[in-house]
Amino acid sequence: MALLEIRNVNAGYGKGPDILKGLSLEVEAGTSYCIIGPNGAGKSTLLKVISGLLPPRSGEVVFRDVPFNGARPDQVLASGICFVPQDQAVFPEMSVKENLTIGAYLEKDRSVIKERMERVFDLFPILAERASQDGGTMSGGQQQMLALGRALMIDPAVMMLDEPSLGLAPQIAQQIFSTIRELEALGITIVMVEQNAVRGLELADWGVVLDLGIVRFEGPADTILDDPRIRELYLGKAVGSGGTT
Ligand SMILES: Nc1ncnc2c1ncn2[C@@H]1O[C@H](COP(=O)(O)OP(=O)(O)OP(=O)(O)O)[C@@H](O)[C@H]1O
Ligand SMILES: [Mg+2]
Repeated sequence: MALLEIRNVNAGYGKGPDILKGLSLEVEAGTSYCIIGPNGAGKSTLLKVISGLLPPRSGEVVFRDVPFNGARPDQVLASGICFVPQDQAVFPEMSVKENLTIGAYLEKDRSVIKERMERVFDLFPILAERASQDGGTMSGGQQQMLALGRALMIDPAVMMLDEPSLGLAPQIAQQIFSTIRELEALGITIVMVEQNAVRGLELADWGVVLDLGIVRFEGPADTILDDPRIRELYLGKAVGSGGTT
């Protein structure tokens, strides 16, 4: 049984057309997934559906064998799936520590909160150094670390990341990627959308190519990375240029 299953989901916005068109995907525990695909393919939409932000029109999301049936975002979060959206959303006028504490709002036990914060500080020493600084005054990379740290405060089983390296300098992006690797080592199942497809696939175990609202291809990430058709269609220049940008 997969940890998380997306079964034949159709979803779209308002009265608009279906963006996801009968999409199915199985997410196994302890495996990291990188979802790639062209702009507008529905990658972010898929993460929004899983996180409860966008109810599917049909089909279902099943977690630990229980269908979500239109669960709200807070219920999805409480069940152990967290979502770090593209816009990094930290609370700009709250300190780093306050931002992290808010991430653990579901947990009442202070010693547990403290332990989790220590774990975040171990992963991101810069957050410990800047614990009392306002979130909004941190650099883009540090805010991304804070967003990841805050998500970790709920001790998630699954972490969904939408373009975690977007807009970051290569060196900072590299730091974010190595942290994601550490999250995997902590046993967290990663579902990541990454515009740097080569880098994302190098990091992940499993690659998923989304196009026009369905899964076009999926397989071991190194196979996806080496597939000439996929390279030509979806990896484009990134491969030819060494895949560092
Ligand atoms: N809030 C919204 N309201 C209406 N349409 C939307 C909304 N968000 C996304 N869409 C549309 O849904 C389609 C898929 O968008 P989505 O953001 O899922 O794509 P994506 O694969 O994440 O693309 P990108 O690589 O650009 O992030 C696009 O045509 C987009 O215009
Ligand atoms: Mg997107």
